[in-house]
Amino acid sequence: MAACKKPRTKEAGRRRFVFVVVFTLMFVSVVLFCLRAYPVSNIAMEPADDTNHKYSHSRLRGNLNLPKQNELSIQLEMRNWLPARNRDLYPTLAKDHITVVLYVHNRPQYLQVVVKSLSQVKGIGETLLIVSHDGYFDEMNKIVEGIRFCQVKQIFSPYSPHIFPSSFPGVSPNDCKGKDDAAKKHCEGNPDQYGNHRAPKVVSLKHHWWWMMNTVWDGLKETRGHSGHILFIEEDHFIFPNAYRNLQILTSLKSKKCPDCYAANLAPSDVKSRGEGWESLIAERMGNVGYSFNLTVWRKIHEKAKDFCYFDDYNWDITMWTTVYPSFGAPVYSLRGPRTSAVHFGKCGLHQGQGEQTACVDNGVVNIEVNDEDKVANIKSEWSVHVHKHQPGYKAGFKGWGGWGDERDRLLCLEFARMYKITETASF
Ligand SMILES: *[C@@H]1O[C@H](CO)[C@@H](O)[C@H](O)[C@H]1NC(C)=O
Repeated sequence: MAACKKPRTKEAGRRRFVFVVVFTLMFVSVVLFCLRAYPVSNIAMEPADDTNHKYSHSRLRGNLNLPKQNELSIQLEMRNWLPARNRDLYPTLAKDHITVVLYVHNRPQYLQVVVKSLSQVKGIGETLLIVSHDGYFDEMNKIVEGIRFCQVKQIFSPYSPHIFPSSFPGVSPNDCKGKDDAAKKHCEGNPDQYGNHRAPKVVSLKHHWWWMMNTVWDGLKETRGHSGHILFIEEDHFIFPNAYRNLQILTSLKSKKCPDCYAANLAPSDVKSRGEGWESLIAERMGNVGYSFNLTVWRKIHEKAKDFCYFDDYNWDITMWTTVYPSFGAPVYSLRGPRTSAVHFGKCGLHQGQGEQTACVDNGVVNIEVNDEDKVANIKSEWSVHVHKHQPGYKAGFKGWGGWGDERDRLLCLEFARMYKITETASF
């Protein structure tokens, strides 16, 4: 028996060895195949669960006239399809949550203050925070990666002028500068209405705002097609602890209390004001600090892409006030409470005609007073609405501050509006 058993054991051992080798080879080739199919960096960054979207997005690329991307631009764009972080800490978003979009450039000192203020906001853990970056900056990135108080999704504008060191949308070697005469200098570019050529650092803000709006409403799977409100804040907006609860009240009251209101705001349109302190809701012109609106309003804005993209002003807000909103036909009001829930702060001693009591930040310390009334919801549903009519400010007829005369900027802006709209013209 024993003599008989040995060869069979040997035979079985050989078979097992062959099996292990074949299996290992198969496993290795599957891994190699996967590595080739998905870029390494993508795997290292935890694969997006939105492969469908990524697929369709790159499929569209062929029919869009977008600038040629560099390595950084591609890497950043791939990060946009990653799922939100902190889903382990906050596994579910509250039903009817209001997504918060924070758009930032490169002022880490300010962002630190804003993020700290957000961490104190009641209810923030119920919602998703999207941080939209204009350019890639390590310090900014670190601050956002350190957020633990809610789900966070980072997105990066892949066509930010800040990530194109030597080509459009950055500066190209052959670009006209200042008041150059394009014909005489044989350089590229169209001057604005004041005779000045484009400056990439100046145009980046309007590009970023428009790219972000299109991406949030029509691109990201987390937010596209959501009909409810989305709140927009900036890297120098201090947010009060009651901001989210107040916003929930405002958005729920809006249709009944102010059917003419297009939006709900956390702060007065006069950025120096902290509110009237009345026992009343306020409807007034659309502000640019802590504004929120819904998908219906976005659709109306999107219809005016051409007006937005061709208006010769490098400021997105002035462009909205002087071209887009007036085109809606009726005054565009926004509903807010009588006490502000957000404050725009700037650097101390900046020469912008700011009053002494204006909030400012110095060495990372901000001098904004938060009282007990700012810590809990302080808007009453039984209040009536006071309407501020005929307020001063930019309106139709203003011809713009310029800085947005280059045809390339205008076309890029229009492409952003088309980016998520083309679906059936794919080349394969
Ligand atoms: C969105 O807001 C607009 C303007 O206030 C309103 O007319 C519309 O009914 C709202 N849409 C939804 C889906 O709530």
